[in-house]
Amino acid sequence: MTTSINYEDKIPNNVDLSSDRRLQRALEGWQPKFLNWWGEMGPALENQGVYLRTAVSVGREGWAHFDHVALEQYRWGIFLSEPRQDRRIAFGENRGAPAWQQVPGEYRADLQRLIVVQGDTEPASVEQQRLLGLTAPSLYDLRNLFQVNVEEGRHLWAMVYLLHAYFGREGREEAEALLFRNSGSPDSPRILGAFNEETADWLAFYMFTYFTDRDGKYQLGTLKESAFDPLSRTCEFMLKEEAHHMFVGTTGVDRVVQRSADLIREHDTMDIAAHGGIPLEIIQRYINFHYSVSLDLFGSETSTNAANYFTAGLKGRWQEERRTDDHKLTEDAMFLDKPGADGIWTQEELSALLLLNLDLRGEYSADCQNGLNRWNKILSDAGIDFRLSLPHVGFNREVGVYSDFHISPQGTVLDAATWEQCRAKWLPTSEDFTFVRSLMYPVYERGRIASWVAPPRQGINGKPFDYEYVYLP
Ligand SMILES: [Fe+2]
Ligand SMILES: [Fe+2]
Repeated sequence: MTTSINYEDKIPNNVDLSSDRRLQRALEGWQPKFLNWWGEMGPALENQGVYLRTAVSVGREGWAHFDHVALEQYRWGIFLSEPRQDRRIAFGENRGAPAWQQVPGEYRADLQRLIVVQGDTEPASVEQQRLLGLTAPSLYDLRNLFQVNVEEGRHLWAMVYLLHAYFGREGREEAEALLFRNSGSPDSPRILGAFNEETADWLAFYMFTYFTDRDGKYQLGTLKESAFDPLSRTCEFMLKEEAHHMFVGTTGVDRVVQRSADLIREHDTMDIAAHGGIPLEIIQRYINFHYSVSLDLFGSETSTNAANYFTAGLKGRWQEERRTDDHKLTEDAMFLDKPGADGIWTQEELSALLLLNLDLRGEYSADCQNGLNRWNKILSDAGIDFRLSLPHVGFNREVGVYSDFHISPQGTVLDAATWEQCRAKWLPTSEDFTFVRSLMYPVYERGRIASWVAPPRQGINGKPFDYEYVYLP
């Protein structure tokens, strides 16, 4: 195992793939199917080269190489972080035992399921974003979209490698099914709800990369702790790529808020729609939607599956090794906030093991709040009183304890009729979507940008904003 990546093989890798001819042949058999899928379901915009980063090593320093590459010639491959010598299991009943290099028989089905569910989200997002290239606000944004897309494709490779290498015939069948299911398909949809929603415009794309890719970060963080070492090392490297996706989301929303603030000041009105900007109330409704559907991805607050995965060592907590408890949690309790029958909030004390999804969701929510603070700083610096906020965790939920209630963004429990009456105030309306879509037109001249978003402060890899990030026919 080396940190540098072999680009001589048909499938770039740092797992010494050529030493296992059967596995290599199986993956080389999957490769053209992946490329077919990419051709059919990947980015719809024709291009002649995109300024992309490609992984050249997995080490700490200088892992990426930047150059113009035609999208379909991107070298998707299999990259695992370096092994840690004598790595030990950090939590659960096997804490202290050596990490597993093979899949223990009793955990085979559970591990396979965890890998399939994670793997399913990766190509789903490429499908959801397929048409966005037709309306990119600048060449810089177009390049970032494609960078995210090729890396989500690579994340699919990461999961397919594990399925092929460790799960036999069933794993190979699951790898096929990952290309067969499609986002939004009525017959064979993607596994998780948020990944069947269309990413219809660029504000939705920034929100998706902020809120939904961030869910991915937290899920990968728990799998990085896994006792199954190949999964842990795969996820560790994916997290490095993921950081850029969240940068795209954070700075994307920054730039929309900045532009809206500029227009509000310039025209001395909050109603900036007529001036080509996105009103702050619409941005708030997009936040409400994307945050609430992303919270659903954490699953039910109480989960015996999550408890079992933890106890067995399959899936840890966020930054497990930095926690100062016993890493077994058999004696620990946590509180779950939930509304009583009278609509008054109460706290229920439950075993910490049962509430692991809630623990992860709490870490995620705290992280999400950082973006809100940034965006509100932009507003306060501009002298604008309006503040953006995260809705209450119970708002608009379809999974978990809150899904039986109608909860306002402020956390008030309402009856169904009242909630419905307020829906248009809280969630994007069809008028909002139509309006935002009316702003979406492609700006492909170097150095230019659409009306509704500010240019970035910096370009990619030290290049200026007006660099030719994408060659178009
Ligand atoms: Fe991903
Ligand atoms: Fe991502």
